[in-house]
Amino acid sequence: MSLSGLCDLHCHYLPAIDDGVRSIEEGVELCRGLCALGYDTVVATPHIRSGMFENRKPGLESVFATFTEHVAEMAGLPSIGLAAEHFCDDVFLQLFDRGEALPYPGGHAALVEFPPERMPLRVSDCFFRMSVRGVRPVIAHPERYNQSFRDSAAIADLVERGALAQLDVMSLIGKYGRKPEKAAERMLEEGLYYLACTDSHKPADLPNVAKALQRLTQLVGEEDALLLLSEHPKNILAGTMRE
Ligand SMILES: [Fe+2]
Repeated sequence: MSLSGLCDLHCHYLPAIDDGVRSIEEGVELCRGLCALGYDTVVATPHIRSGMFENRKPGLESVFATFTEHVAEMAGLPSIGLAAEHFCDDVFLQLFDRGEALPYPGGHAALVEFPPERMPLRVSDCFFRMSVRGVRPVIAHPERYNQSFRDSAAIADLVERGALAQLDVMSLIGKYGRKPEKAAERMLEEGLYYLACTDSHKPADLPNVAKALQRLTQLVGEEDALLLLSEHPKNILAGTMRE
């Protein structure tokens, strides 16, 4: 099986700004490896998380510009883009309200992550405020949150109200343990996910991404795998996702 035309909307290939790659060379190696696995588009989603990764839009844009310049003449790379993985807290809401968040290219959606142990208190309010501004919330790896281990009620409720659930494919091969793996299989069966991404942090993740893509295809079939890995993420960039 070989997949092509894939689009990764969750990747930490920008160097030395979060827990992703440490150097520009590693970033290039990660992008090159994803390209070899069938990705033609990879969007960087560095963390913006208070107390841990104090990144802001201007700094991230400047690191992205340097990276873009570095790879300009290189072959064998996917198209690249910039967004962010925003931790869902009051700081994010303030940044979002001031236009200082980093939605996906096109501005139609933005990636948000939750603390693993509990749903953020104001998540409904936060997602509502995003939606009224025409920015769809994309929930990063819902299967990795404690509240998803037993059932999908909390995430299903957000999806019902317009959020898009994003699978981390490496959950399917047990990278985060048995519970996220089982939750991911269950949510796939329930049809909760709109898209699937790699959340890759380093070149050493590439063999696991390859394994995970195979596992996903085995679980849902090639046609649905391509919806999750290619068509739907591209819809997010184009602003043509489902209502
Ligand atoms: Fe991530």
